[in-house]
Amino acid sequence: MKNITVIGTGYVGLVAGTCLADFGHQVRCVDIDQTKIDLLNSGKIPIYEPGLEELIKRNKESKRLSFSTDIEDAVRSSEVVFIGVGTPSDGKGEVDMSYVYSVVETIAKNHNGYTVVVTKSTVPPGTAKLIQEKLASLGCSDKNFDIVSNPEFLREGSAIGDFMIPDRIVIGANSEKAFKVMREVYRPLFLRETPIVETNPETAELIKYASNGFLATKISFINEISLICDKIGADIYTVSKAMGLDGRISSKFLHAGPGYGGSCFPKDTEGLYSIAKKVGVKSLMVKATMETNERQKITMVEKFRKLMKNDINGKRIAILGLTFKPKTDDIRETPALVILRELLNDGADISAFDPEGIPNMKQEYPEIEYSLSIEETLTNADGAILITEWNELRTLNPDQVKGWMKTPVMLDCRNIYNPSKWRNAGFEFDNVGKLK
Ligand SMILES: NC(=O)c1ccc[n+]([C@@H]2O[C@H](COP(=O)([O-])OP(=O)(O)OC[C@H]3O[C@@H](n4cnc5c(N)ncnc54)[C@H](O)[C@@H]3O)[C@@H](O)[C@H]2O)c1
Repeated sequence: MKNITVIGTGYVGLVAGTCLADFGHQVRCVDIDQTKIDLLNSGKIPIYEPGLEELIKRNKESKRLSFSTDIEDAVRSSEVVFIGVGTPSDGKGEVDMSYVYSVVETIAKNHNGYTVVVTKSTVPPGTAKLIQEKLASLGCSDKNFDIVSNPEFLREGSAIGDFMIPDRIVIGANSEKAFKVMREVYRPLFLRETPIVETNPETAELIKYASNGFLATKISFINEISLICDKIGADIYTVSKAMGLDGRISSKFLHAGPGYGGSCFPKDTEGLYSIAKKVGVKSLMVKATMETNERQKITMVEKFRKLMKNDINGKRIAILGLTFKPKTDDIRETPALVILRELLNDGADISAFDPEGIPNMKQEYPEIEYSLSIEETLTNADGAILITEWNELRTLNPDQVKGWMKTPVMLDCRNIYNPSKWRNAGFEFDNVGKLK
């Protein structure tokens, strides 16, 4: 059993801390956000993640998991300190590392004996070295610290399963002592024979960016193919299926849609591009992936304008789904943000449905009408766009939807509806390159 502190109780820190407690460790999750910590201490959770609330409850009751804003005290009493704070884009294409370095200062001032500092946050290659240098500049002895890169690959919506049964664990360190500590941290997964990649910190840090860059590229690639399908009458669903049956390609991340979003792919592709540039490599692949993604979002808007015969001003438009994918409340970089912006610029009057994303989207677009009812959102609408494939939206009946709407117009950005069924019901209908 290890005494562990996890700094940052966001989508990653909260899941990692809770799962590590479930492995049997003594875990303190700390955050500077008092509201989040108060909420967690009152038995509620600040994010939507299936299964997380119950797992937190169980580990709190077993006294293995606690929440606090006292970061200094937590650091003092821990042998392993995970950094799980945000590393957003700084708006100029670089990774904003200010949250990570502010945490490093706190660790420097408060550590007590040998401490393993683990970056769980996605950080540019070279960060472990820079953290080591920063600690040294703050008067800390090398002997007291090991810096480990342990990137996280969980997906929001299935985060607990991904953390507990990962495809692999990546551990980047420069000392056997640190590897030994990390093997103890992940002991239950070692026992289950989870593949472990032990390497140096630079390699571990790059693995995360390379993985996200590659997955984003797969999505952008299939999105581009969907545009060709649209032009030549080919079916993207069959193209994806047949491509995915090739074991060298695999069917994952090969679904055409409105473009990738979320807190990782957009910022990590941007980060990878700037990392490459810094070392003198012009990343043609990553640049194309990012540009294709931006084009895909705008293509969705253009498709909808066409369906609406460019008559959107003053029209009531129903938006079905706001989050960047189902089973999360995360709206960061969701394609919905671009689609809403464009439609509002066109003068649309928007009504939006989402089971979990409304509170977050309200902060971005307070002027929009929101509802937890699909029927209410579609009632009297002149057109509708399906953006997020929540389960409850998969089974919509076109005849019933037509009865609710003023004009039957539907753009299916996730290819979940059968085009002929909707067209036969009288809809002006389009999707992302799917024929049947
Ligand atoms: N969200 C994902 O699916 C995912 C998956 C893999 C990796 N990651 C990476 O994990 C990291 C965290 O992502 P996230 O989505 O959990 O972010 P988040 O924004 O949800 O959470 C970050 C948390 O850190 C806290 N914080 C900021 N500064 C702090 C400080 N000085 N001390 C204590 N707490 C502080 C914030 O209050 C917030 O609660 C990022 O680097 C991200 O790229 C995210």
